[in-house]
Amino acid sequence: MKKNKISKNWVNKQRRDIYVRQSKVDGYRARSAYKLIEIDEKFKIFKGGMCVIDIGAAPGSWTQYASKIVKNGKIISIDLKEMEKVKNNIQIKGDFTSPLIQDQIKNYLNKGSDVVMSDMAVNTTGIKNIDSIQTGELCKEAMIFSKDVLLEEGSFISKIFMGGSFNEIVALGKKLFKEVKVFKPKSSRKDSKESFIICKNLR
Ligand SMILES: C[S@@+](CC[C@H](N)C(=O)[O-])C[C@H]1O[C@@H](n2cnc3c(N)ncnc32)[C@H](O)[C@@H]1O
Repeated sequence: MKKNKISKNWVNKQRRDIYVRQSKVDGYRARSAYKLIEIDEKFKIFKGGMCVIDIGAAPGSWTQYASKIVKNGKIISIDLKEMEKVKNNIQIKGDFTSPLIQDQIKNYLNKGSDVVMSDMAVNTTGIKNIDSIQTGELCKEAMIFSKDVLLEEGSFISKIFMGGSFNEIVALGKKLFKEVKVFKPKSSRKDSKESFIICKNLR
């Protein structure tokens, strides 16, 4: 398909999408907020006062939602891109896979973090298997990092793609956490291989 035809299709899809329209009403920067809201409704993740690490946070709709719920808690948001400020929010611009950035995150923690969440995704190549494997690598890195920073009863949430390294990621989740679930929110596009892994209680 030609590039301008793809972008026209994308614009039309966005116009028809109820979550895009709702995000404008609710003041969220991206429709992704509704995926996190559905995850929270089902798995009861967030509470007031919590410390949350949001990896791959820009433009910031997950941080916005977390900020509403944790109120006087703390949210540390990391992204390669600049992000507009959100209340109660510490921002780190850089590559999460860099040990320097991971040390910077750890320096902001007191006892540890209640939640680590990652919606990181690489710039897609359009080749579904490659996209899924690369995003899978980011998910694994975030999961291993979460083992170091989460409090014992903490939660880890991450975007994953079906196929690629899916089974490997679920197996790693089960090795590190007592509870592991995979969930596709209604607001995640049906034609996308995206899903989310939710892990609770470190082993
Ligand atoms: C789908 S968007 C996140 C949307 C966000 N959850 C929201 O609700 O606004 C994925 C983000 O992951 C970021 N990202 C990808 N690789 C990254 C890396 N290695 N380190 C930090 N951020 C990364 C991208 O820059 C992009 O902003």
